[in-house]
Amino acid sequence: MGLEACLFDLDGVLVDTAKYHYLAWKQLANSLGFDFSEEENEQLKGISRVESLRKILAWGGVDFPQERQDELAVLKNGWYVEMISEMTANEVLPGSIKLLEELKSNHIKIGLGSASKNAKLILDNTGLTPYFDALVDGNIVNKSKPDPAVFLKGAELLNVDPKSCVVFEDASAGVEAALRAEMKAIGIGAEKDLGKAHLVVSDLTHIDLKTIQNLF
Ligand code: BG6
Ligand code: MG
Repeated sequence: MGLEACLFDLDGVLVDTAKYHYLAWKQLANSLGFDFSEEENEQLKGISRVESLRKILAWGGVDFPQERQDELAVLKNGWYVEMISEMTANEVLPGSIKLLEELKSNHIKIGLGSASKNAKLILDNTGLTPYFDALVDGNIVNKSKPDPAVFLKGAELLNVDPKSCVVFEDASAGVEAALRAEMKAIGIGAEKDLGKAHLVVSDLTHIDLKTIQNLF
């Protein structure tokens, strides 16, 4: 079976919002009197807002009733949304537009598979929305990666077999989700974090249609 669709994670693949998530969570942890490392932050990539908060509170050795946890998640999201509201097309990561254009002109379907509930705002602010044939985000699927639901839903909406899809991911949980969906996975980042992917590159400038088709 050949390539029919590409499913893109958003944060850390097409746009560098991973840094904004990190800054906002760090601000929250600091306001509670502790900090966490960049290695720990790596584990937050790809997972939902509530799960991220749960992990961070555990690292800080603190626990709060659910109601307070909900307030903290809202607080972090407010800071995060402030940061992403300022985003423009300049923050689309290198290689993204060239690849999206190449896929489009070759009639490869394009889908989004993101855990974020803010995906639409980011896509609109950066001008990426028109490239997508289907959008699956944290408002549509609430099972967090590594559950394959977000990518399987993408394949369903695009009306393609999961085995004909390639996923682009910067998170280890996301690579795992792609593999569980029986899709090909291209890791964007470091081999040490994303070693299970079929191919790992530092950014999308290293990818063209030929590279993707060679995975099949
Ligand atoms: C993912 C990020 O794309 O979205 C995670 O990698 C983030 O770090 C998750 O927690 C949820 O995002 P949001 O915008 O709904 O808080
Ligand atoms: Mg990501």
